[in-house]
Amino acid sequence: MKKLFVLLMALSMLAQINAQEKKIFRISTDNTDLILQVAPNGRLYQSYLGDKLLNEQDINNFSYAVKGGSDGSVSTRGWEVYPGSGAEDYFEPAVAITHYDGNPSTIFRYVSAEQKEVKGGTETVINLKDDQYPVEVILHYIAYPKENVIKTWSEIKHSEKKPINLWRYASTMLYFSNTNYYLTEFSSDWAKEARMSTQPLMFGKKVIDTKLGSRAAMHAHPFFELGLDQPVQEQQGRVMLGTLGWTGNFQFTFEVDNVGNLRVIPAINPYASYYELKANEIFSTPEFIFTFSNNGTGEASRNLHAWARNYQLKDGQGDRLTLLNNWENTYFNFNEELLGELMKEAKHLGVDMFLLDDGWFGNKHPRNDDHAGLGDWEVMKSKLPGGIPALVKSAKEAGVRFGIWIEPEMVNPRSDLFEKHPDWAIHLPNRETYYYRNQLVLDLSNPKVQDFVFGVVDNILTENPEVAFFKWDCNSPITNVYSPYLKDKQGQLYINHVRGIYNVLNRIKDKYPNVPMMLCSGGGARCDYEALKYFTEFWCSDNTDPVERIFIQWGFSQIFPSKAMCAHVTSWNKNTSVKFRTDVASMCKLGFDLGLKELNADELAYCQNAVANWKRLKSVILDGDQYRLVSPYDGNHMAIMYTAPDASKAVLYTYDIHPRFGEKLFPVRLQGLDAKKMYKVKEINLMPNKNSNLAVNEKTYSGDYLMKVGINAFTTNQTHSRVIELTAE
Ligand code: DGJ
Repeated sequence: MKKLFVLLMALSMLAQINAQEKKIFRISTDNTDLILQVAPNGRLYQSYLGDKLLNEQDINNFSYAVKGGSDGSVSTRGWEVYPGSGAEDYFEPAVAITHYDGNPSTIFRYVSAEQKEVKGGTETVINLKDDQYPVEVILHYIAYPKENVIKTWSEIKHSEKKPINLWRYASTMLYFSNTNYYLTEFSSDWAKEARMSTQPLMFGKKVIDTKLGSRAAMHAHPFFELGLDQPVQEQQGRVMLGTLGWTGNFQFTFEVDNVGNLRVIPAINPYASYYELKANEIFSTPEFIFTFSNNGTGEASRNLHAWARNYQLKDGQGDRLTLLNNWENTYFNFNEELLGELMKEAKHLGVDMFLLDDGWFGNKHPRNDDHAGLGDWEVMKSKLPGGIPALVKSAKEAGVRFGIWIEPEMVNPRSDLFEKHPDWAIHLPNRETYYYRNQLVLDLSNPKVQDFVFGVVDNILTENPEVAFFKWDCNSPITNVYSPYLKDKQGQLYINHVRGIYNVLNRIKDKYPNVPMMLCSGGGARCDYEALKYFTEFWCSDNTDPVERIFIQWGFSQIFPSKAMCAHVTSWNKNTSVKFRTDVASMCKLGFDLGLKELNADELAYCQNAVANWKRLKSVILDGDQYRLVSPYDGNHMAIMYTAPDASKAVLYTYDIHPRFGEKLFPVRLQGLDAKKMYKVKEINLMPNKNSNLAVNEKTYSGDYLMKVGINAFTTNQTHSRVIELTAE
């Protein structure tokens, strides 16, 4: 036995040495292998992307040439990892460069590679260089074995005599060879976020992109699902989930070529972004993050959720604050006294924080509606004579934390800021200005503007170190696209603007590492994993109608953990009960945005109890494994559950949306439990004086039974919900 082990080890080492000589790079998670190989022509090709191989020596078996030529032959044109424009590949390139002398071709050849341990995984770095021009690309891949996630990005630099122009700059390129490909995309608009739809990918290209600049994901979100051979399903089938960490214009290209292979190209959208790169400047692409599963999107989402909490999301392992927001309750109409009352209400409700929304600033141009004041971040004295210090004090007296809304990247033309610095706003010098929500976007490519935006947060926190939270909003796309700062380099605007935002966010993170922030963009128009390095959570949608929210939260949950998704109980769709609205918000990071005076005594008592339950169970809801059990897209019900990693506790949410009269109801079969453990089933979040009519309530069942037989939790009631706690005995 021992001899066999030694022999196997020796074979594996030999295979590794062989692979090094052959220049084969294996990027591996516990379940996936991405194998790249240098061909005799010195170029780097993808030889395999699929299930992890068991035997090390098998990685030597691949060919680097393209597979499946129509005449059965193998062509010399390969699956090049980072193909440049102007060579023999006639499909979409990863990179396109016009060199200083006007030559539009680039061919990268292998130079060197290294692998190193990084937090959570292994990073593979591969250097490639053009042999005709001093241009390099450095490919980065971090494989996170446990979570089965790979994150990849590229860096481009050169030392040509003059600047070069980049007109394509993909983060990476991935190739697939399957019988069929199905794309699930997430379209969006204000109050219509994360709408999922699926289509087959046929010959040619499908592009998902955005040109909005700042409120960049308003019409399409920067993520997708790919069903390989069949459309994606929740619990079966081979799927890939991918997402780009870029808070600006992005572009996903899916191209099926002449032999039926698919290439997936995630990138910054090159639209209007002919990028002039100076010698020795490094052009870093955004990170593309992807995962695979052979068991459908449910498992793939759990991979991303765990990865995000462990490595990417700001304070991913930390706690989150429940809150009472005043936006929908008061809009712009409040004063110090009213806010003091609301802080007491927040305490009475049992939440951790009061969050003051829009309308607290501007004096010469008071922010009493959305026409004026953006840019003038001093407290409006007529409304709030004691300033922020008085609000922090009142919150303290009420026994809650205090958070505040800002929209620091924007300016109303009716503001001191615009009067003083009209050149700080992105707008065309020679055309009539078009206003989106009566505002303009500040030019974050300008370092002076970056200082100003940093100052918005810095000044508040310097004066009020006890401010506990920021809601950072962004309500306008870039309009009238022209940067007074960049002058004849307008091709840099969309990209440098986003980089300017990251500069500011980095400075904030460095100086105030522990201040949580919510990312908001007129609802959920900013939702990406680069921004979430700086934000603890994001606002999914202004649409808080619970029926709509069931779909919106289902959509975002494909990519993001519940911990990152803010959901508030509001007065949208008052035809539904306060319980239904609260149970829907309780699936994510819970908050409220309504006046408690709207609630009768039972409703208030219900909410207080629901907040207490949520806080008691938040380690399961926010940090547990999520199982999406019944999709709202499939019928009139929805069910989702969270399970603690040790399966000792679980929380099940079931919703009847608009069931048909007398429709057949199916039991909800649970997942993620320990089959051998016994679980006590208890319906919680009940209205005062209401008993549960769940047949299994307060009874004990094995995990096996609950997963195979399930619970009859659905009803034919309209907009009806249940929250069920399961505790292992
Ligand atoms: C848009 C956000 O989505 C809302 O929650 C609110 O903060 C408003 N902006 C304030 O103007």
